[in-house]
Amino acid sequence: MTAAALSLELQGSIAIITIDLPNEPVNKFSALVIAEFDAMLNAIEGNSAVRAAVLISGKPDVFIAGADIDAFLEFKSAGDAETASASGHRMMARLENSRVPVVAAIHGACLGAGLETALACAYRIASDHPKTVLALPETQLGLIPGAGGTQRLPKVVGLQVALDMILTAKNVRAKKALQSGLVDELVHPSILREIAIARANALAAGTLRGRNRKKLGLMGSLLEGNALGRAIVFRQARKMTLKKTRGSYPALPAAISAVEAGYQGPATRGYATEARLFGEMAMTAVSRELIFLFFATTSLKKDSGVVGASPAPLPIAQVGVLGTGFMGAGIAAVAAMQGIPVRFKDMKHEQVGRGIAAVRAVLQDRLKKKQITRQQFDDQLSLVSGTIDYTGFGNVPLVIEAVFEDLAVKHQVLAEIETVLPRSAIFASNTSTIPIAQIAEGAPHPENVIGMHFFSPVQKMPLLEVIVTPRTAPEVTATTVAFGRKLGKTVIVVNDAPGFYVNRILAPYINEAGRMLDEGVAIEVIDRAMLEFGFPVGPITLLDEVGLDIAGKSGAIMSKAFGDRLQPSASLGQVLASGRLGRKSKRGFYLYDAAGKKGGVDESVYALLPTGTRRTELAADEMRHRCPLAMVNEAVRCLEEKIIRSPRDGDIGAVFGIGFPPFRGGPFRTVDFVGASEVVRQLEAMNAKHPGRFMPCDLLVSMARDGKRFYPATGKPV
Ligand code: NAI
Repeated sequence: MTAAALSLELQGSIAIITIDLPNEPVNKFSALVIAEFDAMLNAIEGNSAVRAAVLISGKPDVFIAGADIDAFLEFKSAGDAETASASGHRMMARLENSRVPVVAAIHGACLGAGLETALACAYRIASDHPKTVLALPETQLGLIPGAGGTQRLPKVVGLQVALDMILTAKNVRAKKALQSGLVDELVHPSILREIAIARANALAAGTLRGRNRKKLGLMGSLLEGNALGRAIVFRQARKMTLKKTRGSYPALPAAISAVEAGYQGPATRGYATEARLFGEMAMTAVSRELIFLFFATTSLKKDSGVVGASPAPLPIAQVGVLGTGFMGAGIAAVAAMQGIPVRFKDMKHEQVGRGIAAVRAVLQDRLKKKQITRQQFDDQLSLVSGTIDYTGFGNVPLVIEAVFEDLAVKHQVLAEIETVLPRSAIFASNTSTIPIAQIAEGAPHPENVIGMHFFSPVQKMPLLEVIVTPRTAPEVTATTVAFGRKLGKTVIVVNDAPGFYVNRILAPYINEAGRMLDEGVAIEVIDRAMLEFGFPVGPITLLDEVGLDIAGKSGAIMSKAFGDRLQPSASLGQVLASGRLGRKSKRGFYLYDAAGKKGGVDESVYALLPTGTRRTELAADEMRHRCPLAMVNEAVRCLEEKIIRSPRDGDIGAVFGIGFPPFRGGPFRTVDFVGASEVVRQLEAMNAKHPGRFMPCDLLVSMARDGKRFYPATGKPV
């Protein structure tokens, strides 16, 4: 017998049901929990002394975090998943129609099936606390809400708000939830239970009714109150979804259809449609890949970064940042956002002032978006102080260096700071191209030197590459990884080599896009092909964004290290030589207005390219596969060379660092999906056309020969 998730306590005529899954950090929904709910409802409905109930969580900061995702792996067919959804429907209907009205007392994460449970309750109270967030995140896993969410949510918050919540999967904070009618009441967390009991008593006495239906404004009722208006809303939602995702995420249109079915005929039709579509979506390759990414990020969070027995990470209570430029300011901002004091150092007072102003701008943006309060803004900004000498660095346990990309400057700051820092302090470099071992050369404590490669803009990009050398001490790695995670980053640990991992696999992808330009393919055609593959921006747009000078410098380093295979395109060199730097100079492959807003292709750039203004077209298959194939081959080579430690890290790095299409899972998942032998065949065909650059790497060839995969074909992928 496993311990029960639900427990019951009677307070007068009120049943207080506490959900607290034993041996689990969060509450999750599963077939077992549903069975317990059934039994609990039997018990309280059968007890005539019970007149109302409260559902509350026993976990500190979680109400119910959603369904147990492990259980999704057990579905063998769409029918299995449909049946699971239908059993969720039955339970929610029992809750909704019970003679005992239930008050949901929500504190902490109320997600997915958790919110669907709350929606089936008669009244919802949320704690006014930053940890309280409500969402239906199923579409992020390639699924649709399966326990009645597509049916009950629109009735509660209105059609447009519901579609927005379901399609974006976004978190709704407590205050916003009150405004939209998602919850009926907001209270201080300390009185949540007490007020919930009072409201249950009022429900029992018939003196309170949940709002349970949002009052729509005039425009809202015009649109949502009649079939014609709703048809416009649904059409618009489908159009927007298609435009944004190019049809790559089938759960989005499926969710719209499920919501729509709820308005067409009896309620049973809506629920049946939801269950059917939930079943269908559970079998899609897209859902499989998105669930893989969920498991991969979860397992990465538990990874210390050290192979074998891992030393405990040291606490990092403050951090020093050298260089207050673009990256230094971003790093300081994310540290301050986590409540970590930052000591800034640059060469001149103006530069320090500019750095602090840049941190302020990042925090101000969060304040404007209501992500932080005025008080938090003031507190976080006050954590950042600056100097032009090294005062205030005497007790700093970790310094992140973000000075110019110049080995001599990096050596100079390392030599200077070594005399100031405590003996055990970690020196982390944010270099994008210089090998960490070279930076560590000559350092008195090379075991304390490590790479922390952040991506720009630091406050937005989720990935952090931690780079270790053979000399980096394990406790330095464990501490740096733990600190990166504290900054909210997804952290992969990679070995020291030119380009590390992310820039290494980006290089051939960008080079191939450039070579297509060399051959005369139109700029927008190349970008469109990669948008259609699923990248968030096209490679030529990316070049403009990163800066042609930076791309040129990195391209030169990569071709020096890896020879002809990673030789940059002639087009990039020629456009760069003309003085165009991309967006920052407002001159690149695209046009930019005075405010830096991107327009169409700058046709005048073609005169700078090898084929001049003469345009050509490539076969559709080559357009679609050439850049991604080059990236995938290089990613597998990185695994072969032990730059990355696992396919999991390689997939996470590509998805979170470059925007490799999440619905494809990453380069290694793509190989498994397509099959190693088919990938080798495609590479060989491409190599015949473009000799030398597409030679399949040894690992791919041997996997193709032996019919192997990177991940197990069934069960939990990582
Ligand atoms: P930046 O030019 O904006 O900032 C560099 C700052 O370092 C300047 O404020 C400069 O005054 C300061 N500095 C130079 N010498 C110094 C010294 N001896 N002591 C103290 N401060 C000194 O450069 P950015 O873009 O912030 O790059 C910094 C580092 O981050 C480089 O190593 C770069 O390769 C790396 N990086 C840059 C990325 C990007 O997208 N810009 C992405 C990832 C890494």
